[in-house]
Parts: sequence; C-alpha cells; structure tokens
Amino acid sequence: MARILITGSADGLGLMAAELLTDGGHAVTLHARNQRRAADARAQLPAAEHVVIGDLASIKGMRQVAEQANSFGRYDAVIHNAGVGYREPRRVETVDGLSHVFAINVLAPYLLTALITRPARLVYLSSGMHRGGNPDLGDLQWAKHRWNGAQAYSDSKLLDVVLAFAVARRWPGVLSNALEPGWVPTKMGGAGAPDDLFLAPVTQAWLAVSDDPAATVTGRYFYHKQPCEFHPAARFVEVQEGLLDRCADITGVVLPNR
Ligand SMILES: NC(=O)c1ccc[n+]([C@@H]2O[C@H](COP(=O)([O-])OP(=O)(O)OC[C@H]3O[C@@H](n4cnc5c(N)ncnc54)[C@H](OP(=O)(O)O)[C@@H]3O)[C@@H](O)[C@H]2O)c1
Repeated sequence: MARILITGSADGLGLMAAELLTDGGHAVTLHARNQRRAADARAQLPAAEHVVIGDLASIKGMRQVAEQANSFGRYDAVIHNAGVGYREPRRVETVDGLSHVFAINVLAPYLLTALITRPARLVYLSSGMHRGGNPDLGDLQWAKHRWNGAQAYSDSKLLDVVLAFAVARRWPGVLSNALEPGWVPTKMGGAGAPDDLFLAPVTQAWLAVSDDPAATVTGRYFYHKQPCEFHPAARFVEVQEGLLDRCADITGVVLPNR
C-alpha cells in the first residue's frame, strides 16, 4: 500500500485517480480549495484517508496545503493535478499580483514540490496543448502581452513539463514525470471533449504506484502509459533553471539542488 496526495481532487481527473488508487488498496489524501469542497470530496470518496484544504490561487493557500500534507507524514507519491483551464476570457490577478493561470498551474506545483516532505515519486499533469506553449520566461505574468487564455494555458502546461524534468535532473533519487491525460469531458475539458474519460486518470495513478519497469523511470513524458513526444524546450537546462529561479524569487523558497 502506498500513500498518495492528489491536488485538486474534489472533482475531475484528480477524483477519478483517487478512486482508482483507493480501489487498488492505496491510502489517498484528497485536496480541496475550501471546507465546502472538502466536504464534497469526502462525500464522493469516503475511503480517502485525509483531505487537505487550501486555495492554490494564493501563496498562503499553497503553504497551508504543504503544512497540512506534512502533518500527515511522508507521502510515497504526490500527483500535481489541480489546474485551471484555457477558457479564461481575461487575465485574472491573484492576491499576490500574479496571473491566476500561472499561480495555480505552475507556481503551486513548484511550491508544493519544494515544501512537501520529499516523496519517492512526483507526477505532474500537463496537456497536449503544452506543445504549443512558449518557453520564453519574459512575461510569465502576462503583464506586457495582450491576454490569450489558450496561450496562457499552453504556456503553463509546458512549464509543468519543464518543472517535472527539472526536478528529475536535480533530485536523482525521486521519480519525477509528466503526462497528458487526453482531452476529456471533465469540468475543464467541456462536454464535447472527444477522448476517453475512463482512460484519462489511469496514467497518473500508474506512475504514482506501479512497479512496472515502464513506470519506474524519471524525467519522462507519457500519454496513456506510453512515452509521448514533448516540447523540446522542456529539456533545456536554461529554461528549467530560469523557471526555478523565477519561482524562487516569487515565493522566497528555493528548490534544493539535490
Ligand atoms: N480535462 C481535460 O481535457 C484535460 C486535458 C489536458 C490536461 N488536463 C489537466 O488535468 C488536470 C485535471 O483537470 P480536470 O480536467 O480534472 O479539471 P477539473 O475537472 O476542472 O478539475 C480541476 C480540479 O482542480 C481544482 N482547482 C482548480 N483551481 C483550484 C484552486 N485555486 N485551488 C484548489 N484547487 C483548485 C478544482 O477544484 P473545484 O472542483 O473546487 O473547482 C478541481 O478539483 C489539470 O491539471 C488539467 O490541466 C485536463
């Protein structure tokens, strides 16, 4: 039995992965943005071990999630799943003055990775849209460019792959991988999404717990348990280090080198 924390697991693919893992006999900690969503999550999956609470749109909320997670002991795996989508019609600014999409999709996985007691495995949810992402780190907060929700989302999902590969490079003792689940009909994906919803949570659960040699790798990118093409910039050390530096500047928390 493994202990797994899944962010953004009151709904969608996070909740579905949690169901797969609890069905497999694993102990899952859910995460929800507030008390109400925590009660919803608990009602959806009474078999969950714990629920941690915190709004990942704020650095304070990210820190609260990390503190609660650490209070429950070390996890075997953390799945960074929480995300907001590509349909935001305008730039939303967080209480910290950041782009909402960047804060939730990129900064939260960074800070949680840095603050949560290091697990054996880390899994980051990206998207096929990351291949259209821009690796230029010059305007991460969309302060200069005219807002484009699809591009902001694509950029954020590219940076999730960058983060997964950066962690894999810095922490050789940890398995750190990213994946795309397919375009599926969750709240984010929308009712018309064409891919298979029931396959979509499988790869993240597999990467979190499986002893399959294909799953016990690091610094890889997957779709439906198969290696998959990713944006080449995700491997560029200067992009990886640039992102880690920016996130450290914003949060004041440096990701350890080893
Ligand atoms: N669905 C797709 O087609 C698709 C395709 C490619 C990649 N993905 C990726 O898969 C992951 C899961 O997406 P999904 O389709 O399951 O989306 P979803 O159904 O919208 O679920 C997203 C989850 O994240 C939580 N969340 C969002 N903002 C949060 C915040 N500020 N604080 C705390 N929790 C927050 C949501 O909480 P609430 O329920 O309270 O809103 C929800 O539990 C995302 O990273 C997404 O980018 C999805």
